[in-house]
Order: sequence, then structure tokens, then C-alpha cells
Amino acid sequence: MNSQNNINIIPKPTKVELSSNFIDLKSLKNIYLHNNSIEEINCAKLFQDFLSPITKLSNKIEEEIEKNGIIIKYDETKTFKPEEYLLQIKSNNTVVLHSSSTSGLFYGFQSFRQLCPPELEKYQIPKETTIPVCRIVDLPTFSYRGMHLDVSRHFFDVSFIKTYIDMIALHKMNVFHWHLTDDNGWRIEIKKYPDLIKKSAWRVDRTGQPWKKQSPILKNEESTYGGYYTQEEIREVVRYAAEKNIMVVPEIEMPGHTSEVFAAYPNLSCNNDTLPVQPGTYWPTIDIFCAGNDDVFSFLEDVLSEIVDLFPSPYIHIGGDEAEKKYWKTCVKCQNRIKSENLKDEEELQSYFIKRIETFILSKNKKLVGWDEILEGGLAKSATVMSWRGMAGGIEAANAGHEVIMCPTSHCYFDYYQASPNNSPVAFGGLVTLKKVYSFNPIPEKLQKENQKNIIGAQGNLWTEYVQTPERAQYRVLPRMTALSEVLWSGPGVNTYEDFFSRLKILENRFENLNWTVSPGSFTVEIDGRYNKETRSIEVSFKSEKPGEKIRFTVDGTNPNQTSKLYKNPFLINTTKNIIAGIFLKEKEIPIEYSKQSFVFHKAIGKRVEYHNKYNKKYPGNKNFSLVDGLKGTTDFTDGSWQGWKSNNLDLNIDLGEEKNINFIKCGFLEAHGSRIFLPTEVNVSFSKDGKLFSNTLTQKVSSGKENGAANQIEVVIENIKFSTRFIKIEAVNQKICPDWHSAKGGHCWLFSDEIIIE
Ligand code: ACM
Ligand code: ZN
Repeated sequence: MNSQNNINIIPKPTKVELSSNFIDLKSLKNIYLHNNSIEEINCAKLFQDFLSPITKLSNKIEEEIEKNGIIIKYDETKTFKPEEYLLQIKSNNTVVLHSSSTSGLFYGFQSFRQLCPPELEKYQIPKETTIPVCRIVDLPTFSYRGMHLDVSRHFFDVSFIKTYIDMIALHKMNVFHWHLTDDNGWRIEIKKYPDLIKKSAWRVDRTGQPWKKQSPILKNEESTYGGYYTQEEIREVVRYAAEKNIMVVPEIEMPGHTSEVFAAYPNLSCNNDTLPVQPGTYWPTIDIFCAGNDDVFSFLEDVLSEIVDLFPSPYIHIGGDEAEKKYWKTCVKCQNRIKSENLKDEEELQSYFIKRIETFILSKNKKLVGWDEILEGGLAKSATVMSWRGMAGGIEAANAGHEVIMCPTSHCYFDYYQASPNNSPVAFGGLVTLKKVYSFNPIPEKLQKENQKNIIGAQGNLWTEYVQTPERAQYRVLPRMTALSEVLWSGPGVNTYEDFFSRLKILENRFENLNWTVSPGSFTVEIDGRYNKETRSIEVSFKSEKPGEKIRFTVDGTNPNQTSKLYKNPFLINTTKNIIAGIFLKEKEIPIEYSKQSFVFHKAIGKRVEYHNKYNKKYPGNKNFSLVDGLKGTTDFTDGSWQGWKSNNLDLNIDLGEEKNINFIKCGFLEAHGSRIFLPTEVNVSFSKDGKLFSNTLTQKVSSGKENGAANQIEVVIENIKFSTRFIKIEAVNQKICPDWHSAKGGHCWLFSDEIIIE
């Protein structure tokens, strides 16, 4: 008997009734088709193929009494909402799938598939052949559930594109956004411009060199890395996707991210330069289509005419992101266009460009989609906006009545790290963990209620600067796309992360049988501590993104091993401790990662702090209590222990409650130049018995660390104090502006403190 006691389906279905009974797949003999429609026949094929190692199912027209079979009913009377299905596994050995849409039937099959043993994915006869008796009614929350893939930075062949589509399909997602052109290669055959695939699709092979340091082409060197899809291949992929209810949205970039075009057609750029297709990124890429040259629009209209013939999708994505307008400022033709069209500036020239393309796209009965930069200088009337630089662009567009697809870097950029960079293959940067993705809500709170419907869904983006192979592509998106699929289908916040994670572990068996590469994700143990005034102790608790896995820890600063204490419940400490914790996977002797946190007990812990300058609300740490909570920070300024001041001094009084003898004061600060966080120039302390009159000021000068060095934590120590006091005034002087050597020279800078230790 199958041991499942829950429905382990991702995304989690809307409504499930589960019995404790099971049926045996071997007992299924026939497929009964209600009206023998093409929809039913296609759906039957899915079942027949999938169950072929266990049972040979033959098609029958539905009869009065069906048993021992699968009944497929495509009901055109629209009993069901769009994409909705009903799947019943009945104890009389029947499976009933009922829907009013092909997508509903397809999703019903996907749910059935996830109820079945995973060995069937590789056409193996499974040991267990039972599935639970249940009734599932299911439909998605969002209509647009997308996954993006950049094939310019690295090229992926048709075989992998089909696998990527298979991955999208298993997750009941329905859009494949195909980023076909960019600076590092043009990837689609355009009959009218054959040089795009002869010249723009190839670059010198710099495999193995770091992406941002790939050396430029040498004189007479041959360009051998790249590739493209023929129009026949494109049609094949579009057909393949359509069978899985997946719309393929092509993206043709403009006006920036187009330097590869100028390898073939230099006359279309402002500068008329023939540029080799670049290996790696030489950012910013400033070569751009000339907005003053009508040949550019003729070229793009020709290209888009072939694109609309190839892709049945109602959406055509035209990019629009990160267009560097430097050359537009000096190009005579561009400046003439600004004058002749009465435009204010280069922003409005971009808007002119996009609107002109929009007119063409509308003439082909298609809708234009662009990245949120297309809002700048005025948004094209009918445009759909893909909000990637946060949610603000999406909010603005939705409030103006435009359709919006959310894909903010914070939750949807699957080229970012999903675990500590120390334990991961090199990624673009950032950190978007599985749990972070799962916490995503595509509908921002700030969005006016009546405009929420304009958010049609969201999308995971995979840029491939650091994705060199199909395996790496799968590693980046699995299992983050799994989390996103559940947010979009089941709805944000409907299920808990812990519940999702328990089902994910089951789904990962299926990935393994499909031979899909999955990232193990984050092994960080989050160590949390809360000071309790009554008990004068800190309650320490651990959390991780792997609920259910063993956490072992020490409190003496040594690395935990197999015999170290096992974490069960939060515990109290009341003396200074250096805690180190790690996740111990069954077969692993040592953790993949150690997490460290010091808790310091001292005379000021839990005491009242009076702020003369309030900390910045973006970095409150543990609020009014942050600097006397015993909690030291790490070199990550977002770890919750750090309190921040923007161009302002730290200036506060600590009230010890009664007069105490003190010897030293240690103030913890962070230095992280890349994030504009600087040490104070000096720290001043003075003392008072009544909180009014302060005297005996002591000053400690502080010197900065290495320019642009690694993030660094220091303690400024004021020693040999040796007197008795109740109130201590502490001032740490902010550097206020970034120094001349810094990339943000003259801009505001931050001061960050984690704890003020008084002994
Ligand atoms: C983007 O990530 N440049 C859309
Ligand atoms: Zn120009």
C-alpha cells in the first residue's frame, strides 16, 4: 500500500477531498471518451503514454456503466471556469477527468501524474502502483504564469528548449518568454536579413574565462561560439509548447542591448561602426539603434513581420530595458528627430521609438510587451509592462490601466544566488532563496484595489551570463520555479512554506527520475535571539529553509559535529555565548555551511536607550532595543542585527537604571564600502549621574579600512574608564558623504551599529 497520507501535488490544488483508500493503476484498462472530441483524444494520449509501462489503455466511447478505466469529459458548455478541472480517483477503479478547456484537461493530467509513482517518468515499472482515492477541484489564481530564458548570453539547443518547456508544463505554468536577441548573439533566423545568423549569431569562444573578464576578439580570430534557431525549429518549438498549453512569447530587444546587430548591419547604429559580437559583458554597452534613421524602423518592421508569422502568441516583447542614450545625445539624426517630433529629450525619444513600434505591432493584431523602462518618457497606450526593477513600475502601469507582469529582481531573478555564494557556483549576484520566492506576492499592497486585476501574473527570469550549460540552467530554476508556480497557481500566502517544502521533497523524486538537475538550496541556519527583561536571559531559536532537517549546535565557538547537541526547542542563555549551528543531512558527516552568532551579556543589556537621532526606518534592527539586545551582527548588513543612520550621527543616551562601576565601552560598527557603509570618524562618550549634566568626555578616533575592501566588522573600544555612572551619552560621527575615491563620491553614506557593550 502506498504510504501517502497527503496529496503531494505542486502547485497545491484549490480543493482536495482525500479518502484513506487507494486504487491500483493496473486495474485501469480503458479510456472512455465522452464525445470523442479532439480535446479528449489528445488528453487520452497523455494517459496512455504515461501509464504504458503498467497498462495498455484502449480508447472506448463512453458507455452507460464505466469501470476499470479513465473517463475523460470535455464539456463545451463551460461548466468550468477557464483552466479549471475536476479530477476524481474513485474507489470503483475509475479515474474521472472533467473540464471545459484543453488547458484544464492538461492540468488535470498533470495532477494525476503527480499522484503516480515517479518511476513512470522514465517509463520504468514502479514497485508501488497505487494512487489515493480523492476528489480534486482546481483552478489557478493568476492567468499569466511565466518562465523566461535568455539564449543570447549562452545558446541552448532545441532539445533543451523542449526540456525547459516540459519543466514549465509540469508546474502548470503557461508562458515561455524566449529572450532571443541581445548583445552576445542574435538567435533567430530572419529570412530577409541573412547576415543576422551568419554574423550576429557568433562570437569568439571564451569558455572558462569569467564572464566580465572575457577578452575581446583578436585580429583575424574566428568567431566559433554561438548558434541560432532556424524558422523551422522555431515552429517546432511553438508547436511543442502549444501541445502543453504554453504560449511562447518572443523577445526582440530594442533600442539598446542590440550591439550584436551592428556586427552585421552597422548602418543601423548611431555610429555606423561594425562591432564584433562581444564575448562577456563590457558594461555599459552604449551602442544603440539610431532613432533618427528610418532604415532602423524598416529593419525592425521587417524582422517583426517574420516574428508575428512564427509566433501565434498575442504578445510580442520588444525589450526596452537599459537603453544607454549617450550616442543619441550627440547623433545628428537623433537630435533632428527630437526637433522634428517636438520631443523634450532622449527619454521622450525612447518613448517615440517604442510608440512607433507599438503602432506597427498593433497593425499586426498583436500586443506590445516591454520591460518597465518603457514607462520613461511616456508609456505606449496599449503596452503590457514587465516590472523587473522592483514593483514600482508595475504599480504605476497598473494604476494607469495597463496589464502588468511582475518579475522584480527581489523575488523572480533566478540568475541570482539561491544560497551562500561560498557554497554555490558563481552566479550573477544578489540572493533570492527558495523561501524568498515562496513569500512573493505579485499584488503589491500599495496598489489601488480596483487596479489589482491589472496584475495578470508573474514570471521567473533566467539570464544566462552565468549559465553555461543546460544542467546549470535547471539548477538555477529548480526548485525556485516550483515555489513560484505555487504562488501563481494556488495564490500567495495560501499555504505555508513548511507545507510546500514537505511536498517539494516528494516532487524532487520525480525530478530525479526525469534526470533534471536541482539545486540543494540554502543551508543557512538563521539564529535568532530575544532578550527577556523578566528572566534577564536571551531566548535563542534556530530556523532554516529546510524544515525537518537536523540542526546541531555548540555554544563555545567550536564547529558542531555529529555528537553536538541536537536542536529541538528554543533555549535560554544568560552568559556570553558564541553559537555555531549547522544542518546535518543524514548521509553527511559535516554541514555544508556553519552559521555563527555571538550573544554578549553586559551591563547595558535590556536597558533604556534614548535616541537623539532616530535610526533610519529602513534599517531599524531590533528597534529601540537593538544596540543593547546582546545580539552581534554579521558582515551582512541586512541580517537584522544592524541599525543604520543615513548621513546622520549615532547620538543617544543609555540609562543603566542605577549607578554602576564601568571599565570599558565597546561600540560595534560595520564597514561595507560597496553598500556605502562607512565607519564613524570618531566616537565620543560622556557620563552623567542625573541624565542632565554630562562630563568627562572621552574621544576615540577611528580610521577607515582598505578602500573598497571586503565587508568588515569592528569594535571601537574606550577603556580604563573606571568610574561610577548611571547615564552614558554616546555619539558616533558619520562620515556623511562618500569620499572622492568612491563610485558614489559626494553621495550620502551610512553608519551601521549592532551593539554597544558596557562593562
Ligand atoms: C533586465 O533584467 N535587464 C530586464
Ligand atoms: Zn542616432
